[in-house]
Amino acid sequence: MACSVNFNKKSIIFITGASKGIGRTIAVELSRRLDQNSILILIARSVKGLDETKAQILMVDKSITVQTHALDLSNPDLNDYNKLFQNILASIDTSGIEFGFIFHNAGHIGTLKQTIDLTDLTTWREYYDLNLFSVALLNSVFIKQIRPVAPQLVIVNITSLCGRSPTLNLAMYGSGKAARELFFKVLAVEEPKIIVLNYSPGPVKTEMFESIIAEAQSEVLKKSFQEVKDTTVLSTEQTVSKLLDVLEKGDFKTDTYSEMSPLMFLLNLAWDCRYRLPLLITVGFMVLDVRMQLDINVQTRRIPRPRTQPRPLPEQPVNHEDDIREDDISDDSWTTTAEETVTDLEEY
Ligand SMILES: NC(=O)c1ccc[n+]([C@@H]2O[C@H](COP(=O)([O-])OP(=O)(O)OC[C@H]3O[C@@H](n4cnc5c(N)ncnc54)[C@H](OP(=O)(O)O)[C@@H]3O)[C@@H](O)[C@H]2O)c1
Repeated sequence: MACSVNFNKKSIIFITGASKGIGRTIAVELSRRLDQNSILILIARSVKGLDETKAQILMVDKSITVQTHALDLSNPDLNDYNKLFQNILASIDTSGIEFGFIFHNAGHIGTLKQTIDLTDLTTWREYYDLNLFSVALLNSVFIKQIRPVAPQLVIVNITSLCGRSPTLNLAMYGSGKAARELFFKVLAVEEPKIIVLNYSPGPVKTEMFESIIAEAQSEVLKKSFQEVKDTTVLSTEQTVSKLLDVLEKGDFKTDTYSEMSPLMFLLNLAWDCRYRLPLLITVGFMVLDVRMQLDINVQTRRIPRPRTQPRPLPEQPVNHEDDIREDDISDDSWTTTAEETVTDLEEY
């Protein structure tokens, strides 16, 4: 099935977390590409932030319809979401809509602590209410209410690499992202006519990114995020432009696209470490070399050769002094580790 979307057709677009960061940029950048009759629905808690996003959209295109809805998504309620959608549909001209989009973008970083310290159930529940349960309910309402007015539905889940591979202190965040991603993979299988995209935006300079550097328990995590911030971090415009290009081109196979695929991540890492890595390897070899030399020096002190013949039973009372002399001093019964190694090598 072709996955590409056409922003030049009349669309209704829902964006959660549109008051700042990636969500705001999705809204503004979309308004540059959208058909002028399209309708943008912006959702987040901050009225001020939503108004600012709306103002930026109207600076790009005054003819686009923009609605803002201040809503706390950490209290998911099916009735509230149904009413919200009914009110929105009643207030707009739905004729001629060809695409219905929802960008599940709102999110919170959760508690940035090691797993054994994640024991506050209230925080866990709040995190999952916002990042998973509200998404599941909102998504259901979107499909059921928008399908009758928009022939083609498009669902974008903003996910994260932290939901695919383990990252220190991000167990709460990563587990939520992983669950959410699988939820949308199942949806993609169940609803083959809906375009579903799990988009991982890469490291993006937003308040969420900054909060990891400021709040993480692990100094290692703080340092690595600070390094990314100083080098490869993306702007919201860069990642959103990529996201919209991916959607327009439809060049994603199933439901997953990562701005930074694991391969890209490794290549980036290798590029970032292009000076440090050779240095580390050289130092590593030097340390190994010194250790081997120490080993050889230490072990070339003679050690007893294993006895091949059992010692004859003493007829006289045992003279321990002789034993010590025989075992530890006699030149004939000693070999070196170096000699043993050579033998081993020759045998193979
Ligand atoms: N930045 C990155 O490096 C990065 C990397 C991978 C994935 N992501 C994902 O990208 C998405 C956007 O993140 P961002 O970096 O743009 O973060 P951000 O700047 O902190 O923005 C988060 C958005 O979510 C909204 N939000 C938070 N709690 C909410 C609640 N209870 N109810 C409704 N809306 C709420 C915020 O609006 P209000 O505060 O006004 O409610 C805000 O608009 C998130 O899903 C995040 O996990 C980000």
